[in-house]
Amino acid sequence: MQTKTTELPYNLAQWKQGYRSQKQEYNYQITEIEGQIPADLTGTLFRNGPGLLDINGESVRHPFDGDGMICRITIKDGKAHFLNRFIQTQAYVAEQAAGEFLYRGVFGTQKAGGWMSNAFDINLKNIANTQVVYWGGKLLALWEAAEPHRLDPKTLDTLGIEYLNNTLKPGDPFAAHPLFDPKQERMVNFGLKAGKFDRTGLLTGITIYELDLDGKVVEEHSHTIPGFAFIHDFAITPNYCIFFQNPVGFNPFPFLFGLKGAGECVKFQPEKPTKIIVIPRDPRSGEKIQTLETSSGFVFHHANAFEQDGKISIDSIAYATFPEVEPDKDFRDMNFSTLTPGQLWRFELDLKTQQVTSALVEPRCCEFPTINPANVGYPYRYVYMAAAQTLDGNAPLQSIIKLDRETDAKQLWTAAPTGYVNEPVFVPRPGGTQEDDGWLLAMTYDGLKDRSAVVILDAADLTKGVVATLWLTHHIPYGLHGSWTDDVFIDSL
Ligand code: CO
Repeated sequence: MQTKTTELPYNLAQWKQGYRSQKQEYNYQITEIEGQIPADLTGTLFRNGPGLLDINGESVRHPFDGDGMICRITIKDGKAHFLNRFIQTQAYVAEQAAGEFLYRGVFGTQKAGGWMSNAFDINLKNIANTQVVYWGGKLLALWEAAEPHRLDPKTLDTLGIEYLNNTLKPGDPFAAHPLFDPKQERMVNFGLKAGKFDRTGLLTGITIYELDLDGKVVEEHSHTIPGFAFIHDFAITPNYCIFFQNPVGFNPFPFLFGLKGAGECVKFQPEKPTKIIVIPRDPRSGEKIQTLETSSGFVFHHANAFEQDGKISIDSIAYATFPEVEPDKDFRDMNFSTLTPGQLWRFELDLKTQQVTSALVEPRCCEFPTINPANVGYPYRYVYMAAAQTLDGNAPLQSIIKLDRETDAKQLWTAAPTGYVNEPVFVPRPGGTQEDDGWLLAMTYDGLKDRSAVVILDAADLTKGVVATLWLTHHIPYGLHGSWTDDVFIDSL
């Protein structure tokens, strides 16, 4: 019998199951493989995300507050191996020993004891749950409000807080969205710190870091911008770092008084413009920071930026409104129809006239954009994103979409109706000559089987379907970001 819910391409109850903790740490060869792993695909997919969404049945208020868990998928000689480990942050270790929440989460998770024990406790936990990158011989788990944690890539053992050869001081933030300039061979990242005031009000500090291939910090410069800034991601070109300062306000009092998490005190201000902050990468260039304005919207992620014909183009996923964290509501009880979709936009910045133009590129709800790493910061043609199966409105991410920015051609691969996808990661094919010559790797969750898998797609042609599905023996909760390295950290598969 046809019921109303079956008209949707997803099943909400099945989708919700993907937000259960995975407390088990596994280490095994993946034996259930549909299709064939390409023989020339060799390396390691690292992926981070909240692994622990409850302590003894007490749920986090928001998945962004879940403790970071790394998944490592090693691929070599047509075989694959899986390992997952929790990052042994100081807070994770302490809370596991105590069996209850001891720290406040940014997105509203409160420690036991009600508001009395939460008031004036701004000691947030560094949950290391957003991204993981292998750079300069170091594996780093990243969370934007604090320092990285360094892990052993062979075992995923936590080695401790990483200060980048004393560049960072205790508590210094290092964002979870480093970018890799392929021509300058640099990692570029930033740290954002609010808290200073002048006569205009709150100020936010932005520090830019550039690391060479050995992981050495070779550039560091700090800037101050007016106002509160909620900046998760940025974009680079050979000459600039570009930040979108979303029009949000922050009322700290419910947070300071222990009534709400910091993330719940962020209010979208649709009457105000989005500020686009353009910071020169070379602090000796003599060029000043520029601030441009565009119409309102909220951006978490950028796909790419590049300089061409005296302008900067930037492709970003924008929401008409900020999805505010609603107090006293379980995040699993999501009503997708009330949420605005994230959509891909092209912004063009003219630094001479300070004018910004914007145009909608893709109306379908999408997130987690990725491109060939060889094009980061440079003109590019193809973008890949996790996307909803439905054409209109917001919905769970069930598909992967490829857009050709030259011809506007689209390709779509879908895991609907029972599958849900995470961020795709582009892996270039060794010796490849075309921009889309490579694979897309993504973690998926099948709500019917209650198991996760890693799918390998041919980036040149998503319509061919899956090249290989690597079934895990269990589920992995929906995650955030991941990265690929050609290095392999186990001796034999
Ligand atoms: Co992100």
